[in-house]
Amino acid sequence: MVKILGIETSCDETAVAVAEDGVHVLGNAIASSAEMHGLIGGVVPEVAAREQLKAILPVIDLAMAQAKTDWNAIDAIAVTNGPGLISSLLVGVNVAATLAYIHKKPLIPIHHIAGHIYANFLDGAAPVSFPFLVLTVSGGHNELILVRDHFDFQKIGETIDDAAGEAFDKVARLLGLGYPGGPPISKWAEKGNPKAFDFPRSHLDPNHRFDFSFSGLKTAVMRAIVGARHALPLPNGAMTDAVKADLAASFQQAVVDILSDKLADAAREYDVSIVHLAGGVSANRLLRQEVRKKLPPDVALCSPQNLKYCTDNGAMIAGAGYFFSQKYPLPNNSWSTIRANANLEFPIYNFH
Ligand code: KG4
Ligand code: ZN
Repeated sequence: MVKILGIETSCDETAVAVAEDGVHVLGNAIASSAEMHGLIGGVVPEVAAREQLKAILPVIDLAMAQAKTDWNAIDAIAVTNGPGLISSLLVGVNVAATLAYIHKKPLIPIHHIAGHIYANFLDGAAPVSFPFLVLTVSGGHNELILVRDHFDFQKIGETIDDAAGEAFDKVARLLGLGYPGGPPISKWAEKGNPKAFDFPRSHLDPNHRFDFSFSGLKTAVMRAIVGARHALPLPNGAMTDAVKADLAASFQQAVVDILSDKLADAAREYDVSIVHLAGGVSANRLLRQEVRKKLPPDVALCSPQNLKYCTDNGAMIAGAGYFFSQKYPLPNNSWSTIRANANLEFPIYNFH
């Protein structure tokens, strides 16, 4: 049994977990400044990092207590070393490196997106089986990746502008629905008509068949909001709940159509029998439904077992850390070589 402590601080969460053999979550704790950022409508990096600095040691203690474990029983520490907000990454990486030094444990660097991919194995949600195609879709990332084996990734598509989660967050802000935008938009969408507004589905030219673009959609939604406000006889640019719900439903449908069409197309092209959804937007119910509908019935569709493993969490880092260390064992002094990198490329593994 290998126990790994995973630390994730790449955005506004301070998330720590203990997992055994990469799949069994023993303790999982999280502190978020999302409420504070909800008041502002987005993440302010310095505010996030200051909160993370205050939260990280208590959150580590909590995860260890939940797992009923102590430092002697921990085999290694895994930490997100990028990409993300540099001030936030530095908190996690420096604390993890200090603990690795003090307790003489290997420090394992995990790319944030690799973490999201490994979230799908937690608590037995998906079999640890290859190859598979994964759509990683979050606030900062929107990629199609072919995973041939552990830490053997081939990126086949990415966004040329915004990520889908970012579009959810921006549209929610325009509609005054707070941050993060995904959950309130899908809630409002339940009451709206997805065909009320005909928003563009950018499918790009054949050279970018598996790439994504959401900036045109965002602009179209902004124009529709302005237009709707002008059309309504309400003061101060107010909007009726019915129009808000229609805008949310039509926007969500457009994002889901783009994501699910490309994913199904790529699954056919690469002839895979397993497809994964990973990252914060994989929590979206309509996305899961539409992807299921568009994939052939014999293709398995996997997503995190629990919604808390869709968005940023420490368990996915502990899980990825286990499989990484099985493939590339690291010495107890690896902490001295690991640095936070806001623009960490995907994937860079130099431990062959
Ligand atoms: O993976 P994550 O926690 O952080 C990043 O790595 O970016 O993803 C957060 C993103 C946010 O943009 C949030 O609006 C989106 O995931 N999200 C959703 C849903 N839940 C979270 N988007 C659509 N539908 C949801 N139910
Ligand atoms: Zn994430």
